Amino acid sequence: MRDTARTKDREQNADRLLRASARHSYDPMTEIDWDAPVDPDHFALPAHRVALYGTPLWAGLTPQQQARLSVHQFAASAAAGIWFELVLMEGLIRHVYDGDLTTRHAQYALTEVADECRHSTMFARYITATGYPSARVSARAQRRGKIHFLLNDTTMTFAGAIFVEEFTDAMQREMIRDEALQPLARSVARIHVVEEARHIGYAKPELERRWARMSPARKAVFRRGLVVLARLAVAELVHPRVYALSGLDAREARRAAAQNPHWQRTKVDWARKAMAFFTEIGVIDERTAPQWRRAGLLGAD
Ligand SMILES: [Fe+2]
Ligand SMILES: [Fe+2]
Repeated sequence: MRDTARTKDREQNADRLLRASARHSYDPMTEIDWDAPVDPDHFALPAHRVALYGTPLWAGLTPQQQARLSVHQFAASAAAGIWFELVLMEGLIRHVYDGDLTTRHAQYALTEVADECRHSTMFARYITATGYPSARVSARAQRRGKIHFLLNDTTMTFAGAIFVEEFTDAMQREMIRDEALQPLARSVARIHVVEEARHIGYAKPELERRWARMSPARKAVFRRGLVVLARLAVAELVHPRVYALSGLDAREARRAAAQNPHWQRTKVDWARKAMAFFTEIGVIDERTAPQWRRAGLLGAD
């Protein structure tokens, strides 16, 4: 009986998301003017959200170099976005393969795959348009993605999606609000935010359902695995080549960013919604909260 109620909730939620997708979906290939010139003086991210903001290295850059650094940082986040979206799409396809495509739930999973296909292409176009040299993540993240394929852990895929999507959502909402930023970056952010809100609305109740059925032993392993995944995804936001492209020593810049209180605060701010949700449903408990704090994703309070 409870299972029937749960299935009904799941179907209703998926139906609502499918209707919203039919109303508000975008084709970035035609919505965005990819040929418009990119002004080198425009920041892609608010200055105080650039990893080096406020450090001596930052002070040593000209305003145009600072703007360039922000564009490279956002392009690196786009590359990280592509990486995660590919992992997520693979997980969703497997989820449908094991499921029943006559359900609205499975139909929405495929709709989400279609969204992510467009997003990854959009991010790649952004990377090309801004002259950032690669859409690839670090070798470490590349390997970790392959391990995720082998593990075939759908629940982890949903939890990872909530973390990455909430984090990106927070960053991109700030970009949409700031009218002084690069128009191309803001267009990318706007399309992404609208469609990702639905993905979050799909993943959250699904994780809750799966979490409720998980054994305590499995939960303990899962909690640790999720911190590792989240930490890796955030590290990819600023690939070392971002610094090298600005003529900085990548190792020195990385260290400066890691110790930068502005950047530390940024990561906590952007992770806040995911942390609140994981804490609410028990994915983060008193024993794992310190790990999230050490990862720089959960604030002290
Ligand atoms: Fe996406
Ligand atoms: Fe998504």
